[in-house]
Amino acid sequence: MNWKDDFPIFQTPYYGQTLTYLDSGATAQKPRQVIAAVTDYLETTYANPHRGAYRLSQEATARFEGVREKVRAFLGARSTSEIIFVKNSTEALNLVARSYAEATLQPGDEIVISIAEHHANLVPWQRAAQRTGARLVYLYIDEDGSLPEAELAKISQRTKMVAVTHVSNVTGHINDVAALARAAHAVGAVILVDGSQAVPHLAVDVRELDVDFYTFTGHKIMSLTGAGVLYGRESILEGMEPFLLGGDMIEYVEEQRTTYNTLPYKFEAGTPLSEAVISLGAAIDYLKEVGYDRIGAIDADLTQYLLAQLAQIPQVRVIGGSSPKNRAGIVTFTLDGVHAHDVAHILDSKGICVRAGHHCAQPLARYCNTTATTRVSFWFYNTREDCDRLVRELKRIRRLMGLGTE
Ligand code: ALA
Repeated sequence: MNWKDDFPIFQTPYYGQTLTYLDSGATAQKPRQVIAAVTDYLETTYANPHRGAYRLSQEATARFEGVREKVRAFLGARSTSEIIFVKNSTEALNLVARSYAEATLQPGDEIVISIAEHHANLVPWQRAAQRTGARLVYLYIDEDGSLPEAELAKISQRTKMVAVTHVSNVTGHINDVAALARAAHAVGAVILVDGSQAVPHLAVDVRELDVDFYTFTGHKIMSLTGAGVLYGRESILEGMEPFLLGGDMIEYVEEQRTTYNTLPYKFEAGTPLSEAVISLGAAIDYLKEVGYDRIGAIDADLTQYLLAQLAQIPQVRVIGGSSPKNRAGIVTFTLDGVHAHDVAHILDSKGICVRAGHHCAQPLARYCNTTATTRVSFWFYNTREDCDRLVRELKRIRRLMGLGTE
């Protein structure tokens, strides 16, 4: 099966050739089934959900709320009250930092995060710590990208919040979230997991993982941008103040005071990004058709294949070690003597898209003694041929830069 056939972008010439897209960690390409679902919504059912007494708005509401139920089942949550639509993971993480952490932390409390966090799961905790007098404590990864068990001992009686990524957006390493949740709950702390890079690759069940908050963003699983999801344990969400204030999140508004709507609407102020949410429903349907078993097999095959080929280029250093085990579709590396931005520009001229830079994880880059790296991120629509093209060009780059190949 060639999944690329479902994706119009792969039929659109790029520099006169077929696109080799190796940046799905940044955003996924969209299949025609998702594009068609959005077109159908806009052409037949579009109105502002939750606001109209007329049939069209009620139909839009039904489709919108249908996606909430789909996401609930997708994540294994107990209730749709626990599924909050936000713009993206960044907004979800800010929501929890502001409405939960900043409201509950005290001086001397500790927030535990890992050194491998994306800035979106780091900067909000820095500010929460600064505002409350809490301390930000880091768990450090080892050479192969894993969190050693000894680091988990930093989760102590002082810990009130643990916020970790499920899969690193730089190393692709998969964290043992269930073990982190056990460690957090053993000391009475709350755990949040950033699933932005995990949900495209791994089936997630929030009850099995026993996490309190879980976030992901739809555009990395083929929806339009603007459909982020925050899962929160209902008992915790109930006690939290809203993040954004305005329409739809209210029950009664008087001149001097307001009472809030029930969950999940308390956290959904303003007109929702309904076309993005509708596209998320279609994206989940498509993802199920592909299936996580197949995605896992493709990830494993391509990761192993690419790592083996990169091992033949002595100037390449892979961040987070060169074992294909416990990785979810990401391989990040440096090429001696060539800046990552030059690597990415030269690859682009050959129709190959990769990400270059610090990948919104500057503390991790510093910890790994790098400034800029090149990131390849696969998904199920990639093939060994994509890897071959990449490796062929990588082998030419040093020569092109006048550095020789040996
Ligand atoms: N957070 C996205 C990435 O890592 C944009 O590429």
